[in-house]
Amino acid sequence: MEKLRLAVIGFGKLGKACSELIFKSNDLILTGIVRRPLKIEESLPAPLSKIRTVSHISELGEIDGALICLPTPFIIEAAHNLLQHKIPIVECADLHGKAFMEHKAQIYRMARHQKVSAIVGAGWDPGVLSLLRSLFAVLTPKGETQITHHPGVSLHHTIFARDLSGVKDALTTELKTMNGKTQRYVYIELKQGADFESIKQTIVSDPLFLNEETLVFQVNDIAAMEQKEYGVVMERKGLSGLGDHQLLLLEGRFNKANLAAQVMVAAARALPTRKRGALSLMDLPIGALWGDRQRRSESEENWT
Ligand SMILES: NC(=O)c1ccc[n+]([C@@H]2O[C@H](COP(=O)([O-])OP(=O)(O)OC[C@H]3O[C@@H](n4cnc5c(N)ncnc54)[C@H](OP(=O)(O)O)[C@@H]3O)[C@@H](O)[C@H]2O)c1
Repeated sequence: MEKLRLAVIGFGKLGKACSELIFKSNDLILTGIVRRPLKIEESLPAPLSKIRTVSHISELGEIDGALICLPTPFIIEAAHNLLQHKIPIVECADLHGKAFMEHKAQIYRMARHQKVSAIVGAGWDPGVLSLLRSLFAVLTPKGETQITHHPGVSLHHTIFARDLSGVKDALTTELKTMNGKTQRYVYIELKQGADFESIKQTIVSDPLFLNEETLVFQVNDIAAMEQKEYGVVMERKGLSGLGDHQLLLLEGRFNKANLAAQVMVAAARALPTRKRGALSLMDLPIGALWGDRQRRSESEENWT
């Protein structure tokens, strides 16, 4: 199987992450990076120092796809230019709701006209979070989803939780829900052999936490967590079709650009199997995101 030749447009946080992922993969080739003319002379950081930087996509010769990593207002123009050159595209502009649908329709028309494929909204949000939100709603059709975003820096140490027997370190953060209620998230790193469930019960039933809804999560490394830039909690309370109450919870802490890059690169693997027009992540079969590999490689998660 021939390797896919990809270009990255824009070398900001997302572009850098996409470039490194492509560079380190076994099945993709980073053909080059398109940058603003004023940035062309800047050398790229390792391990990308030998990668070509150009000011226009036409300088890169034949490529199979381009990942657009530009500020949102510049994405349509870049998409238009790339599609005119018959280059399939992936993008993940920070657009939601009606604005996202209009953006998708605009790219769909251009891609269809040029008989090229495009994958839009292929990041974290929009992207995988939109997909998971939709799946939560499929599982509990009558209900309400609440998504709370929080930066890692809002976390602070909690002496109460840290002093509990079995707890090595702890962080807490407080957020307002959509209904104005306060919710607390307590993250704990345990000492070896400590029992998470009993420590969790001690925390949620302590008078300090009793008045507010408190969610306790176990993490491996509190110090590493403090470095993380972004956190999300998605909670859905609702009824299944049979009428029973369900609670679904997703909690994550991660570098958003790196996660979005992971999705963009996966979407790029799907480009050759897509027909002309634009699809969002929601329209794609999940298997397409594995491209031709379908099987695990050493760089991917172990499925067994
Ligand atoms: N869906 C998601 O989950 C998700 C997550 C993260 C980001 N995004 C989207 O991805 C895009 C890139 O995000 P980012 O965090 O990488 O942004 P960034 O760090 O600001 O980088 C944007 C890059 O675009 C290039 N650029 C071209 N024209 C520019 C101009 N007039 N002003 C500034 N930069 C210009 C620059 O690259 P050169 O210096 O190489 O020219 C710049 O480094 C945004 O549209 C953002 O909304 C989406």
